[in-house]
Amino acid sequence: MKKITIILSAILIVVLSSCGGSTANEAAKTKDETKETTVAKEEAPVEEKAAEDVKPSERVDLSTKGVGPIKDLGELPPIDEKMVKEGLELFQAKCTACHKAKSKFIGPALKGVTEMRTPEWIMNMILNPTEMVEKDPLAKELLVEFNGSPMANQNLTEDEARKILEFFRTLN
Ligand code: HEC
Repeated sequence: MKKITIILSAILIVVLSSCGGSTANEAAKTKDETKETTVAKEEAPVEEKAAEDVKPSERVDLSTKGVGPIKDLGELPPIDEKMVKEGLELFQAKCTACHKAKSKFIGPALKGVTEMRTPEWIMNMILNPTEMVEKDPLAKELLVEFNGSPMANQNLTEDEARKILEFFRTLN
């Protein structure tokens, strides 16, 4: 009989304490929720500042397709080796005066660029750099980061720009 009383009181204690606990938790949660709404409002500018602290050339921004002739490439097919080879040749002829694949030069390093920008944005930057740095917020920031030295328009065709994009896809 004594044993049963001990077991029963043990159960009672467990039940009571868990009930008490959850009520307390709930109270705390409601309090937290109220707090969260006020905190969220106060913290918003801090978050924006954090994003600005990352240099534009190192910031991933897949939200924009940029300004220019390339509107939507859809999902890209698997990498085409022939296009990569032609793209590499074009890159060496038209872009290496200012770009290196792996390090910053007159323009940003281009390794990993297809993971940081949409393919449309990259092609618009190649085909339409002047309007891009005037109208596209990200390209504008890049121009500032690169001390106002603008990317030159190399007068490539869409087909040539697409091949360079294919080459960039292999740099990641
Ligand atoms: C006269 C120098 C110059 C030449 C030539 C040039 N670029 Fe640029 N490029 C820049 C600069 C500088 C930037 C940074 C934006 C700015 O300042 O306009 C840039 C930015 C870029 C970006 C964006 C990089 C990023 O971090 O988002 C891409 C992509 C790019 N260039 C590709 C090319 C390709 C491809 C060619 C060759 C067809 C080329 N560039 C030729 C100077 C150049």
